[in-house]
Amino acid sequence: MTPYSVVIVGMGKRGMHHATAFHANPKFKVAGICDIDKARLEAAAPKIGNPKVSTDAAALARELKPDLFCFCTLPNLRLDFIKIGVDCGAKLIAFEKPVAMTSHEGLQIKQALDKSGTKAVVSHQHRYGEHYKKVKEIVASGALGRVHTVYGTATGWAAHMLSHLIDYTCWFNDYAPAEWVMAQAAGRGKLADLHTSPDYIAGVVHYKNGVRGLYDCGAGAPDVPEVPYWWRKCRIGAQGSEGFAEVMTGGGWRAITKSGGFQTGEGGMNYDYDMPPYIQQMADWLDNDKKVHPCCFANAYQGFEIMSGFYRSVADGGQVPLPLTSGADEIVMLKQKVAPGKVLMTLAESAKEYPG
Ligand SMILES: NC(=O)c1ccc[n+]([C@@H]2O[C@H](COP(=O)([O-])OP(=O)(O)OC[C@H]3O[C@@H](n4cnc5c(N)ncnc54)[C@H](O)[C@@H]3O)[C@@H](O)[C@H]2O)c1
Repeated sequence: MTPYSVVIVGMGKRGMHHATAFHANPKFKVAGICDIDKARLEAAAPKIGNPKVSTDAAALARELKPDLFCFCTLPNLRLDFIKIGVDCGAKLIAFEKPVAMTSHEGLQIKQALDKSGTKAVVSHQHRYGEHYKKVKEIVASGALGRVHTVYGTATGWAAHMLSHLIDYTCWFNDYAPAEWVMAQAAGRGKLADLHTSPDYIAGVVHYKNGVRGLYDCGAGAPDVPEVPYWWRKCRIGAQGSEGFAEVMTGGGWRAITKSGGFQTGEGGMNYDYDMPPYIQQMADWLDNDKKVHPCCFANAYQGFEIMSGFYRSVADGGQVPLPLTSGADEIVMLKQKVAPGKVLMTLAESAKEYPG
């Protein structure tokens, strides 16, 4: 069978991860790559079969009409690339988290994808780690009894980490919809970052199935002492009537269940390990409409609405009902409302990441 043709835009860290995995998979052929940085583009091409190169994503997509349009740009660039992917007739658009920076933009992305019927996938690929899969397996087996709480913490700031925390906990909770959310935030330093975020945010989610979600992300989040690498100090888990199970992004998993006692295992997040199955499941979905990708846009959008709801709660106070019915610019709202004053940090080593 002819491989699916792929165009990839943005040949930075994540673009190269994607390009390498597409190139290694016989179901795909990297037909074109794009970056505004010519040196990056030229360095990338020979590593992935010398595809066509361009600094103009729209022109490249129009010319090559790929089956799959992938973009891995920083979070300030989303809607324009979705439109390019839709307009060139791609069957699937693959892009990086976060879905968007504001619900105004996220809603337009959703409408563009819904209208065109284009499949889309968002890169919450940590879930392919053996330690993540083990925790999901334990939760899904019923060994925790009635699950009542899911939780996620990360020392990195929200635009980097929060959508990961929310997505994997929603996975543990079988993507039950959220009914309302509420949050509080502190610290303005990262409001000037391209991954625009409050330095610290803590939020609760009431899921319709009664499960409570608890999220703690950024400078004030608790340490994960089991994990030395700062960016991987994430603890994500589920508690039930008969036990708990949790994964630490950089440091394995553990669980206590009524019948199994205390269990623990290895595992650490690894792009080389996580990307191949993430990419393969795009081919599976293109081959068969029923094999919906686990990182499909619908799943990611659910987490995106939760994150946007958190920001609205920070700005306006109170509980925010979901789903959102209209778009807003939550970044402007945060910039207006997050109080001045330096964020209080949990870890001394976080000071280098939160100088503002
Ligand atoms: N899923 C994960 O585990 C994970 C990990 C790290 C980063 N990310 C996300 O991936 C995204 C990209 O991050 P990164 O670290 O790869 O960034 P990066 O800065 O390394 O790469 C971005 C690239 O996009 C290029 N670019 C910018 N504007 C462009 C345009 N108009 N046309 C073509 N190319 C353009 C830049 O020149 C750069 O090479 C971010 O949204 C980030 O949050 C996800």
